[in-house]
Amino acid sequence: MARPVGSITRGTTAHNRLRRADRWIAAVHGRLLRAAARPLVVDLGYGASHVTTLELFTRLRRVAPDVEVVGVEIDPARVAAARPYERAGLSFVLGGFELPVARPPVLVRAFNVLRQYGEAEAWHYWEVLRTGLAPGGVLVEGTCSEVGHRAVWVGLDTEGPRTLTFSARFDAFERPSDLADRLPKTLIHRNVPGERIHAFLRDWDHAWAVSAPYGSHGARQRWLAAAETLAASWPVARRPPLGGRARWRLGELTVPWQAVAPPHPAGSPAR
Ligand SMILES: C[S@@+](CC[C@H](N)C(=O)[O-])C[C@H]1O[C@@H](n2cnc3c(N)ncnc32)[C@H](O)[C@@H]1O
Repeated sequence: MARPVGSITRGTTAHNRLRRADRWIAAVHGRLLRAAARPLVVDLGYGASHVTTLELFTRLRRVAPDVEVVGVEIDPARVAAARPYERAGLSFVLGGFELPVARPPVLVRAFNVLRQYGEAEAWHYWEVLRTGLAPGGVLVEGTCSEVGHRAVWVGLDTEGPRTLTFSARFDAFERPSDLADRLPKTLIHRNVPGERIHAFLRDWDHAWAVSAPYGSHGARQRWLAAAETLAASWPVARRPPLGGRARWRLGELTVPWQAVAPPHPAGSPAR
């Protein structure tokens, strides 16, 4: 077998850490998984324990009973540790960005993996991963805090990045820009004045500040009001499955990638 593509990095993980992203995947991509003939999902870089892969499997089986999940990990010791937890529809294999699976996956979740690579590498591996997807497939690539109370992820299809989603527990931040520390590698170094992601977070903080009176009814009401305010000046997703009050009330907010994308991604030619 050829050497897996990538490098072994820290294996930090935690029970329920990816709950917010899994909930979004089930709501937004459940239909995609149900429509596929033999839906294969890859959890890339599951870390020192199999636990978040098992959680993904359990959550996706509720919305797509035929789904198969393969955990792919580049550290052989972590694969050996996960293997005893295999069951029908859930397996663990040694591999990297080349995704050594039987057929192209309809969905790849890669959480807290690319942040440990360089910015240009992150763009490159996005391309590698999305070109390995089944037709109509999606990549969900993101980062979260240790216990998962703050998370940010990008949704990509076979053509490129499409959406950026923020998700937070209401007691896990003071202002929306606190989520900036969880931006994906392709954006985190762009959170500086003059870049769109910086302007977006500044305007969201402003919307949050002017929505302060709603806080007397709780942080959820304040989040909803701030989302409405922000949607007046940014193309915030306002309709299901990506947006609207049903998503916002979970502490979620999605924008089209293009609204916040850096104009000249690192490692790619200027466009
Ligand atoms: C910080 S852990 C994340 C674990 C889990 N996804 C989570 O979010 O809790 C990152 C894991 O990704 C693995 N990894 C890094 N690059 C990889 C690659 N190219 N292919 C597969 N696994 C990789 C590392 O070995 C490490 O175990």
